[in-house]
Amino acid sequence: YMTTLESLHERISRCEKCLLCETRKNAVPGKGNKNAEIMFIGEAPGRNEDLNGEPFVGSAGKKLNHALENAGLNRNMVYITNIVKCRPPENREPNQEEREQCRKYLEDEFALIKPKIICLLGATAYKTILNGSEISKNHGKLVNKDGRNYFITFHPAAIIYNQKLTDDFQNDIKKIVDILKNS
Ligand code: URA
Repeated sequence: YMTTLESLHERISRCEKCLLCETRKNAVPGKGNKNAEIMFIGEAPGRNEDLNGEPFVGSAGKKLNHALENAGLNRNMVYITNIVKCRPPENREPNQEEREQCRKYLEDEFALIKPKIICLLGATAYKTILNGSEISKNHGKLVNKDGRNYFITFHPAAIIYNQKLTDDFQNDIKKIVDILKNS
């Protein structure tokens, strides 16, 4: 059941609903402002996140931080989470079972934070939530589904060493701020 963000994070940290609990060091609940207007959703924790118990603390996180700051935002103003809260071995894509078992935690995060825009970072988040594909064609778009506003962009790990994608990603994040300003 749902109570507070703190109790949700505690339940996530003890979760044993799928096999990822057997190989994780730490579960990685979402992190950030509980009143955030923007929620970001990545794929799954990687090595650094598994070791620290916090989302996006590795090189993808640095890229995300940079794009946020470029748009006049910072990590304390937003809320950042993942489709699955535990690291898949070898950073493989989370499977259907893992995504389904973790989905209720994501729904609880939506219900507690009530973000105005949910930014889907990359193909896994886009596929899982909107059954979408073709990020490079669809990035920068806003999609309303079940009364929620989703914004589609790249995964920050996918833009590393690609200046064109880095520019596109930064422009997408600035676009989110514009959308909120004009809403
Ligand atoms: N990649 C993700 O999708 N999530 C993280 O938390 C870190 C890297």
